Parts: sequence; structure tokens; C-alpha cells
Amino acid sequence: MTPFDDNRWNRWRYSLWAPVYHPFVRAFDGARQASIAGLALQPGQHVLIVGAGTGADLPFVPEGVSVLATDLTPAMLARARPRLRPGMELRVMDGHALDLPDESFDAVLLHLVVAVIPDPAACLREAARVLRPGGAIAVLDKFVPDGQRPSLARRAASRVASVFFTHLDRRLGDVLAASGAPLVVESDEAALAGGFFRRIRLRKQG
Ligand SMILES: C[S@@+](CC[C@H](N)C(=O)[O-])C[C@H]1O[C@@H](n2cnc3c(N)ncnc32)[C@H](O)[C@@H]1O
Repeated sequence: MTPFDDNRWNRWRYSLWAPVYHPFVRAFDGARQASIAGLALQPGQHVLIVGAGTGADLPFVPEGVSVLATDLTPAMLARARPRLRPGMELRVMDGHALDLPDESFDAVLLHLVVAVIPDPAACLREAARVLRPGGAIAVLDKFVPDGQRPSLARRAASRVASVFFTHLDRRLGDVLAASGAPLVVESDEAALAGGFFRRIRLRKQG
């Protein structure tokens, strides 16, 4: 944790990013499409997006699937509005404490948020809480492989990067263990940049 791991700082810096964020993140279109396809969503299902940002995931959600897209930063969500279709809704919400009932979604998307949010274990715990048993969480992010210690250079880069946009030194295994959530890793694949970004599907037990 650094002094910048704070919701107020996150909201402030992502308000600054909001006007320029979307064109930059289009580089992830292929990876997010594959991540969403891995959920095999069916018409009538309900999907939650945590840290939805400018709504770059929305065009890849199949027709007939309803979506609640949430984010801490109103300025980011405002830019998601043009991508909404019928059955899609935006709400400002903190991913650490979702204002949503238990077991109310079939799937959750955590794209480029687990490495950003101040307490990623709380984020996973909350995502698991609102997910129905047997439901899946699609994670897309940069992680240090489990069992590997991040290099000194990576830790140094992470200290700087985490002030402005994201951590670079998190291990998903550590986050999962700290969350205590009943989640298992169902698949873990290289997504982009030679595997620096990973596409992971978690399944809720029960
Ligand atoms: C790197 S952007 C990713 C946006 C989007 N998921 C994407 O794939 O393009 C990270 C997002 O997480 C949001 N965020 C940061 N802290 C959050 C929190 N505590 N709860 C919910 N969203 C948060 C930021 O506002 C920002 O929109």
C-alpha cells in the first residue's frame, strides 16, 4: 500500500484521465472480447461490471444480456453513456463495498481494475458475494506470476505507475488468498504484451 492507494485519489486521477482514456484503451478490444466470450453469456443473464470506466466492454456483451456497469469515478462513467444499449445501466459505486444484494449476478467483469483498486482483495470478495454460486468472474489485468517475486525494476516502476494509473506488482494468487472468497481459477491465459496482461476466469464454488 502507498499513500496513493485511496479512493479519493483514484477518483481525482481518473477524472483527469477520463477525457483521453477511451482511445488509449481500445488496444485492449481483442483481449476484452475474448475475456467476455469465455463467460459464454446467455440472453436473460445479468452481468455486473466493476470499474467499468468509459464502457469499453459494453459493445462486446451479447444482445439480450443485461448489464449494470459501475465505477467510482462519475467522469469515467459519463463517457460510457454513448455505449449503452437497452438493458444496460450505469451506477456510481465503490467496488470495495457494492451496494447490491448477495448472489444477484450470473457473471462479473473485472477488467483493468484489480491492479488499480486500493484493496483488490475486498474487490474480489465483493464480486464473489454478489455472484450466484457457479457464476464466473472474468479478470483482465497485469499480474506477476504466482510464486515469482517481482523484480526490483518492476517494483520501482510500480511505485511510480501506481501514483498515476495502476500497480504493476500484484499477484492474483495473493489477492485471491487475502479475499477468502470461494473462487477457483478456471483458466489463466496470456492476453497481451507477451503475457504481461493476463485473462483469467474465476468460478464461484457452491
Ligand atoms: C484502468 S481503468 C479501467 C476501466 C475499464 N474497466 C476498462 O477496462 O477500460 C480503472 C477504473 O477503475 C475505477 N476505480 C478505481 N477505484 C475504484 C473503486 N474503488 N471502485 C470502483 N471503481 C474504481 C476508475 O475510476 C477507473 O475507471
